[in-house]
Amino acid sequence: MFGRADFSIPTRGPRGCLIRSASSDDLSSILVVERRCYDRPWSRDQFRAELEASHARLDICLCGGQLAGYHCWWLLCGELHVLNLATAPDHRRRGVAAALLAAAFDQAQKSGLERALLEVRAGNAGAIALYRRFGFRVTGCRAHYYPDGEDALLMEWEIQGARDAGRGTRTSDNR
Ligand SMILES: CC(C)(COP(=O)(O)OP(=O)(O)OC[C@H]1O[C@@H](n2cnc3c(N)ncnc32)[C@H](O)[C@@H]1OP(=O)(O)O)[C@@H](O)C(=O)NCCC(=O)NCCS
Repeated sequence: MFGRADFSIPTRGPRGCLIRSASSDDLSSILVVERRCYDRPWSRDQFRAELEASHARLDICLCGGQLAGYHCWWLLCGELHVLNLATAPDHRRRGVAAALLAAAFDQAQKSGLERALLEVRAGNAGAIALYRRFGFRVTGCRAHYYPDGEDALLMEWEIQGARDAGRGTRTSDNR
């Protein structure tokens, strides 16, 4: 299990921005950005539940003292799950989301990361491009997954060793 005490993320974001773990004091600013980013935003209670869960992380990126972005993710059994990654509209395309993802990968890799998983709206070209840059591949599609009927793409990242081990297992299973 990935304990909260094990966690100390890099403090550098893009161009001097700061990345750190969120606390309950950050929830109001996070909610402002969340509501600007999503038609169906998470509630304060949802964020609070993630803050309290031992397997969950909620990181924020501060630029010039303002909340530029946040990333909620889980690490469970060597799998990093990207749950919610968002950048405030006026801070986009400056590397905020990439820095938040990189910080999560850095931390997860210290704790035996083997795979990373996420779901993304099929029409969210910007997010898909970001995840591809990190080496995620589309591995599936859930038709009409979202309440408005849009499909979800499943994307996965695997370290090479885990990928090779998986292939080996499948080969021996087939014999
Ligand atoms: C998707 C999102 C998180 C990207 O945040 P961001 O901080 O602007 O992303 P970054 O600046 O770190 O982008 C890194 C790279 O990802 C890709 N990328 C990011 N946004 C993109 C866009 N709109 N179009 C195309 N490529 C994009 C690019 O390769 C970019 O590098 P570049 O700017 O050098 O070309 C942001 O647009 C957002 O919050 N969207 C609304 C919420 C959302 O959809 N979250 C993802 C849910 S799965």
